[in-house]
Amino acid sequence: MPSIDATELFAPLGASYDRVGAALSFGQDPLWRRFLVSRLPRDGGHVVDVATGTGLVAAELLGRGHRVTGVDQSAEMLVRARQRFSDRVELVEASAEAMPFADAAFDHLTVTYLLRYVDDPGATVGELARVTRPGGVVASLEFGVPDGLARPAWELYVRAGLPLAGRALRKGWREVGDFLGTSIREYWERYPLEGQLQIWSAAGIEDVEVRKLSLGGGVVMWGRRA
Ligand SMILES: C[S@@+](CC[C@H](N)C(=O)[O-])C[C@H]1O[C@@H](n2cnc3c(N)ncnc32)[C@H](O)[C@@H]1O
Repeated sequence: MPSIDATELFAPLGASYDRVGAALSFGQDPLWRRFLVSRLPRDGGHVVDVATGTGLVAAELLGRGHRVTGVDQSAEMLVRARQRFSDRVELVEASAEAMPFADAAFDHLTVTYLLRYVDDPGATVGELARVTRPGGVVASLEFGVPDGLARPAWELYVRAGLPLAGRALRKGWREVGDFLGTSIREYWERYPLEGQLQIWSAAGIEDVEVRKLSLGGGVVMWGRRA
């Protein structure tokens, strides 16, 4: 499914990612990350943050008293995470599709904006479930496609606003601006919510709940590892 190489896409973005990402979502995605992290019990458990990037979700987890391990395949994104955390978060350069951890190694798991970049989302969700202990929470955040009256505004933004912003920002953001809207739209066409719920269920994640945020621009899903 991916029409782009995520390793290449993210390589130039580490230094500007935090600032530009928040601006391009009109300040919404920091709020979505906070909601994502609030789905986990405040039990001080060990959380693996998958596709941790520059560590924005990992920072929220640390702030809530968790022990945190971050995983990402991009060495460049992890450079920024290392600057942020020094040795407070263990950072592992690895693919989310085959993580170098034992079964049930973590109490809980968070994952953000990953599944549009993998070949087989079902297999990857299975891998996320594998490293989470039974009873632990698996929580994910992904961009969504708003419904109803918000849809035309979203289409205008991703078809015109984002590509223009990407060209103005340069430093790798042009590719993001051109790619993101199509990537999000195609992902939800191929894996509508019912299909994603089936994937989670097949992976052994139960009691799954979904919350659409900011008119559906962000979608948080969470459930318990059976
Ligand atoms: C949009 S960033 C999200 C970063 C961070 N979680 C956040 O909330 O902003 C997506 C991240 O997924 C990582 N990524 C993409 N495909 C991956 C894979 N197969 N395995 C591990 N990381 C991957 C990219 O390197 C990038 O850092």
